Amino acid sequence: MLQLHPLNQAVFSGDAFREATTTAGLRGEPLEAQANAALALVRHERARIAEERGSFARFANGLDAALRTNAMEHMDDPNFPESGKLAIANGLDLLNTVTGSYGRFFSLLEPMLHTIAARTGRAPRVLELAGGSGGFACALAALAAKRGLDLNVTGSDVVPLYIDRAREKATAHALHVDFRIVDALTMGELDAGAYDIIFVAQSVHHFSPGQLARMVCEASRVATTAFVSVDGYRSLSMLAFVVGTALLSFSPAAIHDAVITARKFYSEDELACIGRLGAPNAKVAIGRIWPLNTTMVVRFDGLTASSSKSA
Ligand SMILES: C[S@@+](CC[C@H](N)C(=O)[O-])C[C@H]1O[C@@H](n2cnc3c(N)ncnc32)[C@H](O)[C@@H]1O
Repeated sequence: MLQLHPLNQAVFSGDAFREATTTAGLRGEPLEAQANAALALVRHERARIAEERGSFARFANGLDAALRTNAMEHMDDPNFPESGKLAIANGLDLLNTVTGSYGRFFSLLEPMLHTIAARTGRAPRVLELAGGSGGFACALAALAAKRGLDLNVTGSDVVPLYIDRAREKATAHALHVDFRIVDALTMGELDAGAYDIIFVAQSVHHFSPGQLARMVCEASRVATTAFVSVDGYRSLSMLAFVVGTALLSFSPAAIHDAVITARKFYSEDELACIGRLGAPNAKVAIGRIWPLNTTMVVRFDGLTASSSKSA
């Protein structure tokens, strides 16, 4: 219901959209502004076309628009205590572990990792952005070791307390994972080609369309091969699932963030559009890890990621 695929496709084929989506050569704030304007145009045009298409289209688009919010999650609030943020991050880590999400994320990356190892003859280098308290970075290192795959894993986030806890986690499990503070938006201190894959789990909804386009653009500088993101699938059932699981935590802060999260998930078409805006020369593929996630793979090496939908 909230994917609005037919309406999005109608928008994408229009002249107004094509003119607004030229981002070649842009990066940083000009790219952010252009991508925000492009997505605003998509949503505006979608509402206009929905009006023309009749009551169901109008209802679906109206529901989607009513659910959207710009409210800030506690995790993004500079005034919310880091200890409170850590409690939410640890809750997410537990949920990811219980739902087997880390194994599914690893399966998404594994074919690419083997290709990179074969091509370069060295351990692939993976940087996880916005990784919270390091749960996936540790799981990735452990799963790769179990498979006999030599891997160089770096976890990162902007919250220093997460990085401290993530380092402790890696040490406790004797895992070789490097952790550092990285602002996913700028990646300013990272050298060109420093990593092969940049991975982001369940965080892209924390960024505006323009910020996400900037992230993809910077990733095209920092990563040799791909930017890969996984986030919740935009749907009413995911809204119920995300809020329902948060209710089980009995934590008002976690419930607050879960409600905002599920309302902010991007649709598949929006992600494809943002990926193209961020890296106009890359191949963008949108896929699904059923039932919970939408994936985006942006390939910088000229190859097309295998997926159900390419852009
Ligand atoms: C929903 S949590 C996801 C954590 C983890 N990836 C997971 O799957 O559980 C979103 C994360 O994005 C991080 N974040 C927000 N803005 C960021 C930025 N500009 N740079 C890096 N991380 C950021 C937050 O600190 C938080 O850890």
